[in-house]
Amino acid sequence: MKVLVATEKPFAPVAVKGIKDIITLAGYEMAVLEKYTEKAQLLEAVADVDALIIRSDKIDGEVMDAAPNLKIIVRAGAGFDNVDLAAATAHNIVVMNTPGQNANAVAELVIGLLIYASRNKFNGTSGSELMGKKLGLLAFGAVAQNLARIAHGMGMDVSSYSPLDRPQMIIDAGCHVHESLQELFAFNNIVSLHLPSTPETRRSIGYDLISSMPKDAILVNSARQDVIDEEGLLKALTERTDLRYVTDLKLADHDHAVELLGDRYIFTPKKMGAQTKEANVNAGLAAAQQIVAFIKDGVKKFQVNK
Ligand code: 3PG
Repeated sequence: MKVLVATEKPFAPVAVKGIKDIITLAGYEMAVLEKYTEKAQLLEAVADVDALIIRSDKIDGEVMDAAPNLKIIVRAGAGFDNVDLAAATAHNIVVMNTPGQNANAVAELVIGLLIYASRNKFNGTSGSELMGKKLGLLAFGAVAQNLARIAHGMGMDVSSYSPLDRPQMIIDAGCHVHESLQELFAFNNIVSLHLPSTPETRRSIGYDLISSMPKDAILVNSARQDVIDEEGLLKALTERTDLRYVTDLKLADHDHAVELLGDRYIFTPKKMGAQTKEANVNAGLAAAQQIVAFIKDGVKKFQVNK
């Protein structure tokens, strides 16, 4: 039984060691493919593997065709839009994620980005504080829940709109509930996106919502680049020069956005939300344990291609 850890963006070494300990203790072999630059390297590495641990690595039908022994793919993280689920099901491959395991890391990054933006990128001018500001969370999954906890500690006024209709969960977390997406955007100084990338959410955040935000508002995206309607965002921010877009996912036409928006477009050079030792250990070890439980006992908890 062979397990491959295929991560274009590598885990911290301590996480790789922890994964290896679990895999070898179970009597399996482990291989690692990190920082690969060509799909051909991935196709070659999967040829003899039974299980695959990935992050945002793209796994399509071609990769599955190249891996005739593959039985399980675990996305060490939350979002699984990078895996072709229909192809996996057709290949009789179980796909799982590890929900919640890297959520605190992403929430902390959002706070860091918001402080950086609110203090004018530490450029010496007077910025503003987060205390007392209204923070609206779009969706209320694990990252949003962690963000609510931290933001409450900072004295922010936190609210949420959940497309999954989770009012009680939002109330129990001490947040106000919005009845609609429109209300969330019109009400809050900061709106933070926590949507998965699905056919329904892709390009769902556009001109009307963004241009309805209050004066000096910030839209922060640590979720997925493609939930933004880029044309609509650029149009809204061109008209409203008080608004800012802060993101862990660079826009598709990044250079154009830099040129157009200048300092009002704040971005990380590479997606960094889940890039902490702790999140790597949490998600990586959970992935390894889920593989062992599946191979040994057929446990399918967290399967996402049912
Ligand atoms: C996730 O979906 O878990 C996050 O977006 C983190 O992705 P990453 O593992 O590629 O950093």
